[in-house]
Amino acid sequence: MNYNITVLDGDGIGPEICAGAIKVLNAVGQKFGHKFNFTHKLIGGCAIDACGAPLPEDTVKTCLESDSVLLGAVGGYKWDNLPVDLRPEKGLLGIRKAMGLYSNIRPAKLWASLAEASPLKGRLVENGVEIIIVRELTGGIYFGERGRGGDGATEYAWDTEKYSVGEIERITRIACELALKRNKKVVSVDKANVLESSRLWRRTVHAYAEKHYPEVTVEDMLVDNAAMQIVKNPAALDVLLTSNIFGDILSDEAAQITGSIGMLASSSLGDGTRGLYEPIHGSAPDIAGKDIANPIATILAAAMMLRDSFKLLDECAAIENAVDSVLQEGWRTADIYEEGKNKVTGSRMACLIAERI
Ligand code: IPM
Ligand code: MN
Repeated sequence: MNYNITVLDGDGIGPEICAGAIKVLNAVGQKFGHKFNFTHKLIGGCAIDACGAPLPEDTVKTCLESDSVLLGAVGGYKWDNLPVDLRPEKGLLGIRKAMGLYSNIRPAKLWASLAEASPLKGRLVENGVEIIIVRELTGGIYFGERGRGGDGATEYAWDTEKYSVGEIERITRIACELALKRNKKVVSVDKANVLESSRLWRRTVHAYAEKHYPEVTVEDMLVDNAAMQIVKNPAALDVLLTSNIFGDILSDEAAQITGSIGMLASSSLGDGTRGLYEPIHGSAPDIAGKDIANPIATILAAAMMLRDSFKLLDECAAIENAVDSVLQEGWRTADIYEEGKNKVTGSRMACLIAERI
């Protein structure tokens, strides 16, 4: 089969990590007889520099015409002081919205060979950890009304967290489908003791799940408690369903307990099969161009693309197994390095993984 993939390299380490994922995808193509065609387009700071906007129309058009999209990362010091509509992040939020990607899946998995890299005590992680965060991605405070007014000491600013029943139901469906394939349990995270939007969230999640997924158990957890449970007993958590902003925050926390944010991938989907796949980390401008960034998160994002957009399950497993082998053999990029292991550059790491496909 032929697959057309748009690559949005973005800024900072984006181009390096995307190059690593492309190398691995090409190895998969060769082994399994697929042809992956890559078209590179601009997003974020590099797009601001080249065309004056973080999300050029041509980028949106190409993404909407392709089979799927791979994204590196956006942002950097250079663009930090621009007005809000001209910030690189606006490009990322814009493409999520333009592609209708309301469902963001972020699996935080602790690889057995990286248990030592987790900041948590051994006994908390010895039986493995796999928390799957299902984050609503095109609603809530990220896209709600906001504004400013007043001046001096009375100057103020506001943002709104707003969710509709329809938005909550469709993301609940995603979490329940996932739970069916796992332990049939969803933990829904909200702040219903304070926020009205959370009270609607809680009521809707329960009503929808009870009606359509009676075999799935839904438990509620307040977000402050969820933040605590992630470090207290991560092994007890499985599918976490939550809003855009809570998912953003909890996914960084969950990532860190697996050793390095450089290991975590994410998939963003809407109603179709065309998705956007990216590492959950940022553009790390401080290490860009030094070939030390860990490409594994982006390589695992490519694996998720094969599974979720193209239904290529064996091919996805081939990438995950190759990553596992390389880690077990002791190869490490700087972020996951520990004494006694072999430290390698980012590009070498990608080569090692590609060779094991
Ligand atoms: C993420 C990032 C983005 C987000 C930023 C860069 C807009 O932190 O994907 O988690 O907040 O969604
Ligand atoms: Mn984030």
